Amino acid sequence: MPFYHKLGELPRVKHTTFYKPDGKSLYREELVSSKGFSGAYSNVYHHYLPSALKQVGVGQNLDDMTWENAPFTYFHCDTDKQTSGGDFISAREPYLSNATTLVSLAKVTEDTDTLYRNASHAEFIFIHHGTGVLKSQYGLNPFGAGDQIVIPKGTIYELKFKGFENNKFLVIESTTPFQIPGHFKNEQGQLTEHAPYSERDIRPPEYCAPITESGNVHVLTKVQNRVFEQTMPHHPFDAVGWDGYLYPFTFNIKDYHPKVGRIHLPPPVHLLYTTTDLVICNFVPRPFDFHEAAIPAPYYHNNIDSDEVLYYLDGDFMSRKGVKSGSLTLHPGGIPHGPHPGRTEASVGQPRTEEYALMIDTFHPLTPTTKVRDTSHENYPQSWI
Ligand SMILES: [Fe+2]
Repeated sequence: MPFYHKLGELPRVKHTTFYKPDGKSLYREELVSSKGFSGAYSNVYHHYLPSALKQVGVGQNLDDMTWENAPFTYFHCDTDKQTSGGDFISAREPYLSNATTLVSLAKVTEDTDTLYRNASHAEFIFIHHGTGVLKSQYGLNPFGAGDQIVIPKGTIYELKFKGFENNKFLVIESTTPFQIPGHFKNEQGQLTEHAPYSERDIRPPEYCAPITESGNVHVLTKVQNRVFEQTMPHHPFDAVGWDGYLYPFTFNIKDYHPKVGRIHLPPPVHLLYTTTDLVICNFVPRPFDFHEAAIPAPYYHNNIDSDEVLYYLDGDFMSRKGVKSGSLTLHPGGIPHGPHPGRTEASVGQPRTEEYALMIDTFHPLTPTTKVRDTSHENYPQSWI
């Protein structure tokens, strides 16, 4: 998590009496902590008991859209094809998964009053299209195109979009948290001068007055591949204040400061966040390599320990033909990949690229779902011939 942040009212000392304005009733302190009591945490002060549940529904299994006997090959999906739409919860369509990670896309076409909590995975949401605000007990995280929002595991939240003409996001769910890479920080935990972004680029939640009315509030809680409808007797966004290191935060891909080399630098120079099981990179417009004989397109590579997922946002992606905004490609580990025929030669002498893309490299093989089967270009694996 990025840095210490606090909003609203707090007692001077943790775990001590903190009275409401009536001078008699106590605010309820909730410690939200990771890795037991040893990881990043925040202390939240509620009007009501955060554990109050009025009704716990029977869980339902989510359709994980398993593609039986999927081939082991390259895939190129058009994620704008055959989308069902829905609200920010129901619109999610899974494309790729393994035991720790799930990658889904969602076209949000309608609103909902139901709140959402992912109790088993942290979430990384990339807003491709649309503007709005993420609301949680920590406050407001306004978002627009290119924003990347990290949501800690177990956070109850909602995404409120402005309008429903063109909203789309990609979401990565991870059993381990999204972290700023350790080598971006100095010994004090501050982002270094050579990190590709600074604290000023990271947007923590903004203050929002607590919602204190009682009344049923529905929360859909996801645990692995099961969802539970829960009813709380009050609104969970009832915090009068909080402080700590655990909260949703936003970083826009346009704020990423790219690194450029004399000869081609490998993808880790485009690193954004890591988890235990994957890395996320931001590819953004930049000058190309400046050696007089440099080949800007990447060399063929065989990353035997990772699957490569690319989601294309904007601009002409230098190494691949036929991809467009909304394309999703999978190049599994253990077999080589690289530029399409002609792309290496075409890149020589080019001064810069205008590409925007998101890369996800997982350290365990991903399984494609039936969404991949139904939206992928049939001849993509043969397109290097
Ligand atoms: Fe690659």
